[in-house]
Amino acid sequence: MPMLIRTTSDVAPSQITPKSVYLRRRAFLERAIAMGLVLPLLPAQALAVGARKLSGRPGPFSASEKQTPYKDVTTYNNFYEFGTGKDEPAIYAPKMKTRPWAVTVDGEVKRGGVFGIEDLLKLAPMQDRVYRHRCVEAWSMVIPWVGYPLAELIKRVEPTGRAKYVAFTTKLDPETMVGTRLPLLDWPYVEGLRLDEAMHPLTLLTFGLYGELLPNQNGAPVRVVVPWKYGFKSAKSIVRVTFTEQQPKTAWNEAAPNEYGFYSNVNPNVDHPRWSQARERRIGEDGFFTPKRKTLMFNGYANQVAELYAGMDLKKFF
Ligand code: MTE
Repeated sequence: MPMLIRTTSDVAPSQITPKSVYLRRRAFLERAIAMGLVLPLLPAQALAVGARKLSGRPGPFSASEKQTPYKDVTTYNNFYEFGTGKDEPAIYAPKMKTRPWAVTVDGEVKRGGVFGIEDLLKLAPMQDRVYRHRCVEAWSMVIPWVGYPLAELIKRVEPTGRAKYVAFTTKLDPETMVGTRLPLLDWPYVEGLRLDEAMHPLTLLTFGLYGELLPNQNGAPVRVVVPWKYGFKSAKSIVRVTFTEQQPKTAWNEAAPNEYGFYSNVNPNVDHPRWSQARERRIGEDGFFTPKRKTLMFNGYANQVAELYAGMDLKKFF
């Protein structure tokens, strides 16, 4: 068997770089990196996300199920601004500029304003939370997100007594977002929640996944994750958070109101008009012929959220 690891005694003195040369070479490289002449040698994925690690303390509500591989989480995406193909966001989204980035908080709030992304990152302690993620297209993943409850931001901006809903407006840049050149949706993508849903401790203002900053295709630099609702409620690349008295118009609901309700809670008993919602395919784990798994009410978060909808007809308010 060939020897792959050489011990020091295998290395001839002539092969060892003198320390002075090594130090000069290193100083040169550091200066070149600082001047932006060469990029530090990092794995391609790390470069694509700006190579910044982001993790937090373990947060509550984490699922113990097997996590979907990083590769699937970051290459099988819905981000229609970059095209309708699942592979297109990973191809086109890296062009989106995520710095500088600001999020405007306005509407029915006492202390609204413009928050720079670096300030938002520091607003509350980061938490690691593994959530089930169920798409309306009947596939699912299990993703380790990094963020903090959206309630942390909401408490700081002090909604007025009239605030009943929160709308999330996302980035619109036709230059880099090739998908927005087609009138698929009424751009920019807008999503919304009732204020109590937005304040729920499960609702995560999300900045990272798998211990690093969000890749662009997953909604960098900031998105929401609402794990008991179909994935489209979890708006990516947010630039505005608006508190309103009236239920906001949302992109998918406007495009097809009989298919995508405002609530869109995961509900195996209410089918999409064109397909069943009773079962789901777990991405990365199941093969095409593997039986689909049963979809759980509220995506398995019924104990935490069912009371938000007590007395509501969930067939009517789908
Ligand atoms: N946010 C924006 N701005 N644009 C989108 O097209 N797609 C939604 C949601 N957020 C979407 C979006 C849908 S349909 C899903 S399933 C999730 O993002 C996918 O998130 P993921 O790619 O991180 O899994």
